[in-house]
Amino acid sequence: MKLKNVLLEKEGNIAVVTINRPKALNALNSETLKDIDAVLDVLENDNDIYAVIIRGAGEKAFVAGADISEMKDLNEKQGQEFGILGNKVFRRIETLNKPVIAAVSGFALGGGCELAMACDIRIASEKAKFGQPEAGLGITPGFGGTQRLARIVGLGKAKEMIYTCDLIRADEALRVGLVNKVVPLENLMEEAKAMAAKIASNAPIAVRMCKDAINRGIQVDIDKAVAIESEDFGKCFATEDQKEGMTAFMEKRAKNFQNK
Ligand code: CAA
Repeated sequence: MKLKNVLLEKEGNIAVVTINRPKALNALNSETLKDIDAVLDVLENDNDIYAVIIRGAGEKAFVAGADISEMKDLNEKQGQEFGILGNKVFRRIETLNKPVIAAVSGFALGGGCELAMACDIRIASEKAKFGQPEAGLGITPGFGGTQRLARIVGLGKAKEMIYTCDLIRADEALRVGLVNKVVPLENLMEEAKAMAAKIASNAPIAVRMCKDAINRGIQVDIDKAVAIESEDFGKCFATEDQKEGMTAFMEKRAKNFQNK
């Protein structure tokens, strides 16, 4: 697999994906989106990976947005196609069969905020800044921002951020629920890896089913949602890890999950 702007590293059961265009503050051009797409193929099929961390290269930015130099001269059809590509890739992250943590060091703007929001969990450094500055460039957010921001922080705050283009700092992002945790910059990767390791210590199929049930359930009414939960709950009983988890509990010993 030849990647130009994305690095993929494995550390035990954890994968670290780095968006690697630091000179452009990791801005997402189509080449980078296609690299992420290719990495998702690998992650999806690797049964030894139980959790994923996405970060930006360098400390200044997670991702400073979609690439403005690439978008500048697009016509309507090309703009729509670029949006469709970004949305396809981010939806793949959101529905990936393992949990994804965004480790946000600095700027997470436009497509960067949208990338973080497509992840399951966001950990930010104290220096991180979030925002959707697209309206100031003459466009709407295009990689899910008009949809996911409101789902995460509520309609009022999402509309305020998107209409004003104001950036918010990490402490406010924590207050409005946009991030799960704020940590000193020097501890960012350590904290993200500790959380990933904690997730990876649980039964991987059960974690996957939890992600599936939460993601699918949030989109439908509560009757359909609990039916989805029952379905995923039931599927867990067909796994060896359910037997192992409950047997280990009864025998008061450590669990040894096999992702089976
Ligand atoms: N696209 C392309 N290049 C970008 C970029 C982007 N989104 N963000 C930063 N860069 C480039 C700059 O052009 C600059 O390149 P050069 O050194 O070649 O000039 C380099 O990265 C460093 O950036 P700055 O010199 O601007 O750094 P700064 O410290 O002065 O400012 C910043 C940092 C406030 C993040 C500023 O770079 C900025 O405002 N970036 C754009 C943020 C933005 O508007 N993002 C939304 C993009 S639209 C979008 O994402 C649409 C969508 O939803 C899909």
